[in-house]
Amino acid sequence: MRRVLIVGATSAIAQAVGRLYAAKGASMVLVGRTPEKLDAVVADLQTRGATVVCSLFWDARQWDQSPWVIAEAQQALGELDVVLIAHGSLPRQEELWPHPERNVEEFHINATSVIALLSALVPVLEAQRRGVVGVISSVAGERGRAQMAVYGAAKAAVTAFTAGVRGHLFPFGVRVLTIKPGYVDTPMTAHLPKTPLVASPQAVARRIYRALEQGKPDILYVPWWWRCVMAVVRLLPETTFKRIRI
Ligand SMILES: NC(=O)c1ccc[n+]([C@@H]2O[C@H](COP(=O)([O-])OP(=O)(O)OC[C@H]3O[C@@H](n4cnc5c(N)ncnc54)[C@H](OP(=O)(O)O)[C@@H]3O)[C@@H](O)[C@H]2O)c1
Repeated sequence: MRRVLIVGATSAIAQAVGRLYAAKGASMVLVGRTPEKLDAVVADLQTRGATVVCSLFWDARQWDQSPWVIAEAQQALGELDVVLIAHGSLPRQEELWPHPERNVEEFHINATSVIALLSALVPVLEAQRRGVVGVISSVAGERGRAQMAVYGAAKAAVTAFTAGVRGHLFPFGVRVLTIKPGYVDTPMTAHLPKTPLVASPQAVARRIYRALEQGKPDILYVPWWWRCVMAVVRLLPETTFKRIRI
């Protein structure tokens, strides 16, 4: 039986991953910020076969509470076989430009809190010498864009920090998976124009579940073809890229 910690458990992608673990009878600690949403996810996963040993309320703006989250989860589950860090916030960048403090707050939600969670996890996983951590970053972290300036900057930080943690934990036999979705049809993207490139949270979750359970790869583009799209995007000269509004 897998012991699974999901941070951001109410996210559409995380809930779909949670359902796949629930179907296998996993024991879970679920972390979310909105009590009524988290309670609904707990009930849903329990009816699908999970044992939810504990649910924790945590707001990523209180990133300094991250060690508490990890300590509570470890106490509740004993060992952590699987950790998924899934919370995130995609603000409308045009509303943030006049408010420096809101840009910084979004950075804390999307990046500082993830760095704090991973930092608190490192000694736990070093001691266990086993386990897998999946961190949902984004293709948006690969290149700064006007419409997603702070979100992209935060995801770039998450991707880089996660790679550092992967290197650190590798000798301890702990896997760290960086997950880079493209557009996924979730509440986060409800305000964006629909594109044919959009994936369903269920399809993305199946791929994440497989990567968590199979021991490869280190970096997961999902759907896979975003790896090719981003290879092209990275090649565009900045003089061209700064003119593109995507
Ligand atoms: N959707 C996409 O196209 C896409 C693409 C690339 C990467 N991602 C990443 O995928 C992950 C999951 O997102 P999603 O698409 O499943 O979106 P979602 O359904 O809107 O979920 C967002 C999650 O983040 C939580 N959250 C937001 N602000 C928070 C805060 N201050 N403190 C704690 N939790 C907070 C939300 O909690 P509440 O439910 O309480 O609001 C919710 O659980 C995120 O890391 C996102 O950046 C998404």
